[in-house]
Amino acid sequence: MSDRRTQPQKGFTEVEFNSEPFLTDFKKIYEGMHASGCPFAHSKTGDHYAVASHADIMDILKQYDVWKAKYGPALNYLESPGVLVSVDPPEHTFEVRIVSSAFSQEVFDAMIPDMEAFVNEQIDKVYDAGEADLHELLSIELPLFVIFKLLGFDRYDEDGGDRFLWTRDGIIASVGLMLVPPGEAAAMIESGNIEQVRIQALTRTSELFVKHLTVSKEKLASGEWQGDENLVTRFLTTPGPDGNYLSDDKIIGFMGFLLTAGSATTTIMLSNIIYRLLTEEGAWEKVKSDRGLIPIAIEETLRLDSPVQGLFRTNDVPVELGGVQVDKDTKVMLLWAAGNLDPEVFDDPMKFDLDRDLSKVKRHLAFGYGTHFCRGAPLARLEGDVFLRVIFDRLKNLRLNGEVEMDKRMPVLQGIRKLPVAWDQ
Ligand code: HEM
Repeated sequence: MSDRRTQPQKGFTEVEFNSEPFLTDFKKIYEGMHASGCPFAHSKTGDHYAVASHADIMDILKQYDVWKAKYGPALNYLESPGVLVSVDPPEHTFEVRIVSSAFSQEVFDAMIPDMEAFVNEQIDKVYDAGEADLHELLSIELPLFVIFKLLGFDRYDEDGGDRFLWTRDGIIASVGLMLVPPGEAAAMIESGNIEQVRIQALTRTSELFVKHLTVSKEKLASGEWQGDENLVTRFLTTPGPDGNYLSDDKIIGFMGFLLTAGSATTTIMLSNIIYRLLTEEGAWEKVKSDRGLIPIAIEETLRLDSPVQGLFRTNDVPVELGGVQVDKDTKVMLLWAAGNLDPEVFDDPMKFDLDRDLSKVKRHLAFGYGTHFCRGAPLARLEGDVFLRVIFDRLKNLRLNGEVEMDKRMPVLQGIRKLPVAWDQ
């Protein structure tokens, strides 16, 4: 897969998505692409094209026979079999069936009391101090708490070590590599461009998956656990339409994907909601005094500040895109975050507006669209709801308390790294 497939095209914007200028100015770049009348981009370093308009993204996602997930959602061409976002029907249909058995609204709703208790305990730890970095305290911790619970991982290892700490590092390392051109990741790791601690975290996380799989098998065999104990036991006990079960490699792939998909994205959403509500005039008080506005606050934040900038599809046959002939097996990035700022779909798209019609805002692409639409979307929304309700109840006169820092370690995800806040006791 090393031959060059793309080149600069007349009318296409040249963008280096894995670069500082993009990270600093991505919304302006998207605005410019929409205004140009040719909402497509080309990346020379990444050797890929990108699509910004809502309509074109939807169009691609409806052409299931042309645009495939099989080479994975990242820039590199996945060679080993992937899971979910990296497989196409009919394999995908089977995997979704297994995931859906554990991703029901009932399962999610049953987690509400635990989530509420967790958020309260986290706040208790710092309440008397009157200030905290809310990103560290809750935005990172709550999604990890939830996904650990779903997967059946214990937070602390046998030596009392906190697995949240190194799984976080592993996630940053793996997501950080998503826009690195094929073949360059190994060189980056060797040259020390990715901190060794994060690479070690990736290894430790893989070891955790293997161990958890072994323990799950043993406990199922001894009868200590039933099939519905956690996601991994469900994977082990749910046969496909042909009577076969998921391979160990697939189950480990599921653990890796869900840990990442379920945490880093939701983390960004949670901090963004607080940031928006505290910085848009009157928004905090408006939603606090009318909790019925929580859903629109969540959706409008997802639209305007989408955590995932874009993910890739690969065409199975040569196609035309924006008037350009595209070779078979070309990586094309679907820019969810840009589609959500498309003036053809959202009036005054750069404005955070709690008076928008909820059903129209929900046309946003922050969770993707179609076959691979995010299975965790209801859970992410629930986490946002619990998080906001408890914070409204507990933290009086919440306000920013210092500089908000952006996280630039994972270009495919854009969000906050530090959110200092203070409250009255
Ligand atoms: C705000 C939080 C989240 C955002 C912005 C988000 C975003 C996305 C996006 C854009 C996709 C589509 C990928 C594609 O089409 O290539 C996706 C897929 C997926 N997400 Fe999420 N996600 C979030 C939270 C979660 C959570 C909490 C979970 C689970 C615990 C989860 C599990 C999944 C799964 C399983 C898929 C794959 C669906 C499939 O291929 O059938 N996500 N997510």
